[in-house]
Amino acid sequence: MNSNEFREFGKAMVDYIADYIDNVRDRNVIPSVSPGYLEKEMPQEAPVDGERWEDVLKDIDKLIMPGVTHWQSPKFHAYFPTSNSFPGVVGEMLCAGIGCLGFSWMTSPACTELEVIAMNWLGKLLGLPEEFLNCSEGPGGGVIQGTASEATLVGLLAAKERVVRLFTKTYPSLTEGDIKSKLVAYTSDQANSSVEKAGILASVPMVHLPSDSNGSLRGDVLREAIEKDKGAGLIPCYVVATLGTTGTCAFDNLEELGVVCNDENVWLHVDAAYAGAAFVCPEYRYLMKGIELSDSFNFNPHKWMLVNFDCSAMWVKDARYLVEAFNVDRIYLQHQHEGSAPDYRHWQIPLGRRFRALKLWFVLRIYGAEGIRRHIRHQIQLAKHFEDLVNMDPRFEVNTSSMGLVCFRLQGDNELTQQLLDKINAAKRIYVIPCYIREKFVIRFAICSRITTTEDINFSWAEIVSHVSPHLTN
Ligand SMILES: Cc1ncc(COP(=O)(O)O)c(C=O)c1O
Repeated sequence: MNSNEFREFGKAMVDYIADYIDNVRDRNVIPSVSPGYLEKEMPQEAPVDGERWEDVLKDIDKLIMPGVTHWQSPKFHAYFPTSNSFPGVVGEMLCAGIGCLGFSWMTSPACTELEVIAMNWLGKLLGLPEEFLNCSEGPGGGVIQGTASEATLVGLLAAKERVVRLFTKTYPSLTEGDIKSKLVAYTSDQANSSVEKAGILASVPMVHLPSDSNGSLRGDVLREAIEKDKGAGLIPCYVVATLGTTGTCAFDNLEELGVVCNDENVWLHVDAAYAGAAFVCPEYRYLMKGIELSDSFNFNPHKWMLVNFDCSAMWVKDARYLVEAFNVDRIYLQHQHEGSAPDYRHWQIPLGRRFRALKLWFVLRIYGAEGIRRHIRHQIQLAKHFEDLVNMDPRFEVNTSSMGLVCFRLQGDNELTQQLLDKINAAKRIYVIPCYIREKFVIRFAICSRITTTEDINFSWAEIVSHVSPHLTN
């Protein structure tokens, strides 16, 4: 493909994407295909001779779209939002076009420097303490990871290394193996599955502590667990607090957990994957009270802040712990400016890294702080509207409502709500998923699409109500 053909293909694709977003609400949000559907439609081998791009584009509608779940549809209410905005899409395009890898400053200075600047802008926008920012005097700084899962693992690996270094110095008779075999980490029973996975990957047992009736992990529960484990000869090294749990968007008590972690010299990582975006609005910052006590903080602009996947913003108070844990050098990686700017390969798991700061920068500039705040506030208002609709129908109950996520159920046995959920998703017009709040089976209703309107919420509610068994009178 030469550059003229690329111009045509690229422009046609921009039109295709714009049309897709404009009309996405008219599609069934859940596809009607069975496993293996695509294999039946595809040749067994890749083509020997290149094909025309026009033919490939035609096959998007014919082969791909029938198997797509439409995460950008205003009728998608499952999981959490996965951001999509036109500035974000164009940022992705430029990232692919430039095609650089920024694993050291030297391999593409703009890639590192824009990331440093965008992460400072973003950190200030969220009201993070100064010490987390690259622009502060100290050793703190921000980095873009691929996902919140990676950030949790990176934090754990750094915490593990910190403890091993500390203990080998303090207790020279202990081997590295002795220390590592005693490490233990903690999180709440509401933490995302990725936290448990980080424990598996880092070979550190991740203890799930009970949350309170609001789904919040409290300091006294953590303190008791740490004391008990220390008494048994274990070494507590890492705590993951969640701000905005996946089930109900509950908030751990960061202030209480922070005091315990600081007393015990345990690394506190904050997973605010979804709800962290709301801290751009000053009125929600009370939910991150105690943030100054944490060692690392992470949220996903790719969830609720209009930056296309993948873009997970992580800040650490002392980046030297990451560099010490992950620094592996080779002659071909060295350059003459080492030490004057971050070499981000030391802050992450892979070597290669994309120019993800471009899409973040585009979104920050083109929406501006006020545009992002308007988006967050609008989505929270839409959730409030949904909550009001549920509350007006006596057959239902609202179980929790927090930051754009409403959990609700039919009054009565769990079975009724389970059946309702099955019917809603079988109809494929809207998509919702369940969770348990204690022993109650509830449906999660998240506002996911950037283009959601009040009419879309009314449509989704009417769709839900249409599946309620007629014998449940209202
Ligand atoms: C609280 C929380 N943490 C972590 C994750 C995982 O995010 P990622 O896919 O970026 O790893 C999620 C996903 O929804 C989440 O809700």
